[in-house]
Amino acid sequence: MEFGVLKHYSLSGQTVRLEFEGGTAEIGLTAPGIVNVFAPLAGPERRSKAIEGDKSRPVAFRLERRDDGLWLETDEVKVRVGDGFTVDFFDADGGEVCMDYRGQRRPLERITPERAQLLIAEGHGAELAEPDRAFEVVKKLSGGEHFYGLGDKTGFLDKRGYDYEMWNTDNPDPHVDSFKALYKSIPFFMALTDSHAYGIFLDNTFRSWFNMGQESEDYYWFGAAGGSLDYYYIAGDGLPQVLERYTYLTGACPLPQKWTLGYHQSRWGYMTQEDVQEIADGLRNHDIPCDAIHFDIDYMQDYKVFTWNKERYHGDPKSFLSGLAARGFKPVVINDPGVKQEAGYPIYEEGVEKGFFATTPEGEVYINAVWPGDAAYPDFGNPAVQEWWGRNQKFLLDLGVRGIWNDMNEPASFKGPLPDDTVFSDGARRATHAEIHNVYGHFMAKAAYEGLKELDGRRPFVITRACYAGTQKYSTVWTGDNHSIWAHLQMSIPQLCNLGLSGLPFAGTDLGGFGSDTTPELLLRWVQTACFSPLFRNHSALGTRPQEPWRFGPEVLDVYRRYVKLRYRWLPYFYDLFWEAERTGAPILRPLVFHYPGDRTARTCNDEFMVGDRVLAAPVVQQGVRQRLVYLPQGEWYDYWTGETLTGPVSVIQDAPLDVCPIYVKAGSVIPLSPPQSWVGEAEPDTLLLDVYPGEGVWDHYLDDGESFDYREGKYHQYRFTVHKDGSVDTETVHAGYDRPYREIRVLAR
Ligand code: NOJ
Repeated sequence: MEFGVLKHYSLSGQTVRLEFEGGTAEIGLTAPGIVNVFAPLAGPERRSKAIEGDKSRPVAFRLERRDDGLWLETDEVKVRVGDGFTVDFFDADGGEVCMDYRGQRRPLERITPERAQLLIAEGHGAELAEPDRAFEVVKKLSGGEHFYGLGDKTGFLDKRGYDYEMWNTDNPDPHVDSFKALYKSIPFFMALTDSHAYGIFLDNTFRSWFNMGQESEDYYWFGAAGGSLDYYYIAGDGLPQVLERYTYLTGACPLPQKWTLGYHQSRWGYMTQEDVQEIADGLRNHDIPCDAIHFDIDYMQDYKVFTWNKERYHGDPKSFLSGLAARGFKPVVINDPGVKQEAGYPIYEEGVEKGFFATTPEGEVYINAVWPGDAAYPDFGNPAVQEWWGRNQKFLLDLGVRGIWNDMNEPASFKGPLPDDTVFSDGARRATHAEIHNVYGHFMAKAAYEGLKELDGRRPFVITRACYAGTQKYSTVWTGDNHSIWAHLQMSIPQLCNLGLSGLPFAGTDLGGFGSDTTPELLLRWVQTACFSPLFRNHSALGTRPQEPWRFGPEVLDVYRRYVKLRYRWLPYFYDLFWEAERTGAPILRPLVFHYPGDRTARTCNDEFMVGDRVLAAPVVQQGVRQRLVYLPQGEWYDYWTGETLTGPVSVIQDAPLDVCPIYVKAGSVIPLSPPQSWVGEAEPDTLLLDVYPGEGVWDHYLDDGESFDYREGKYHQYRFTVHKDGSVDTETVHAGYDRPYREIRVLAR
């Protein structure tokens, strides 16, 4: 990768084409604050999987060659390009923000095979997919950077000092801080210093690496095992704006159906109709509000996708599911990519006949093993396969299914990893597993989403385990197979916060823990944390201690119920936050640093989080603890339970007996609440309650039908509540497009 001297440059629209001695490259202004750095190492073709549609917007700029390089300047960002394709980013005043490193390492390097041996974590196939193209970009560390994002990586909120790999990985061992990779590849991070915030999105689907200062205190680097050098530098006046711009580029999480924000009950181990019936009865009889019951792999016939085990459901799953629906339960079913290799199984036979499965380089259908035994892998990069898969979901929808849970789509394989040269498609182009692996789950989620949209018309509900940047347009995510251990409850906070900062606001962990046996205390502390997480689902593994809320006696049940009810009460607030997420990319669950970037304690706070910009939760995440230290950033805060006021920044010792999750609400807030309900849609939501925290503030509240896309045609209501110091509230209707607005809006007495 010897770019050498910059010989010529020319301008094409907002893109500067650069001709170096050793190759060509480009610097493009995509939109205000977004700069693309590109070198076509993999040939001229460029087809992002994350970015869809034309995202270019006009940006005013100047281009000038000076002694120290070629300068591309806009009102917000100044870019300097030098020999060797060095690229430095400055702010509007010329202050250094993100500089290429100059020192023992060159700023842009080829990854040698020897280095690759060290980088490739699992040791298998320790060869670079495309040795001529593997590269790394080395950037200077100024000393004060904190790094956020990078998807579902383990460990703590601030990624500074750690190194990670992007290679979607299903690792059944309990996930610990030293894991390099998990199920998701989101090659995007944001950097925060005392003076600046910016983001880098490496749009490359090959195996990639992010070394965030683990190798050196002087530099950090990111690189990929193949493909093109293609990254976006995203400027902004803070983390929210950088994230908004990243979301603009890769797409926002669309507003989900309202019921999906309710409570979900799941377990791998509900084998029969009777098992599911018992769970449904348990939820209603114990007065646990619930909207969704999940069906894991045992609903299928021999784990064959798009089948239903008739024996276990007495020949008529449809009437069983409609019985559940009548009681407010929406069935969500798991769907795995692996298609059982079996003569006479229509999905397999049709897939083979139409060439819809991945193949070996010799053209044979590639077979590995998953739950059904030997199985073929749908080639989701082929649009015809996406369409076929999406359409097949009709079988499930016709039975009454309301959501699809995509699992095992890294893709998982029980007989060793798929060889790098397994043949997949990227549109009409032939591509290898090395290139497609990290977007396999993304394509599957897209297939599921588009299919559901077409068949059902309502906002599709898809959950996926594996994904890539941009998957938020199609699917919610969960963090896979955690364990019922305290370390995983602790980790759930930074992990969900970083997913939110990676453009994936609709995320959750398996409440109670998936593997291992939960304890009553762990379950209670987990529900107190998870009732704030966007996806709120209790799920556990076959053979583990059952963890439905009533399994541990009346006291545990009472406390558990209290937090599920709190979530249902707060649903209008959560729904507002989702509406905001679609418009601005702001996550639901946010680390404190998102709103208090100048606060040093906030920058590395791992055991508290914000829900929106005005609620702070500080759950207990350690066994035996009944008091905890709570940090409140600047401002006036109300204790949610007692109404006591506190002035931040302050650290307080907070009592937190087993039934209490410390929650604080900022002065000037109004939290829109729902009257009690056992599921979304039990009654027409014609009353809104306002929980008011005196001070000065404004809140925009959103209402629509909760399931259709009509809101995109303006069929929604937008209310504006203005809170005053004396606790009075003014209500204004800013937009009146919904035909069933509230009949009553009532301020709650505190
Ligand atoms: C792995 C998934 O992560 C888990 O949630 C599921 O229960 C099992 N597969 C069985 O389908």
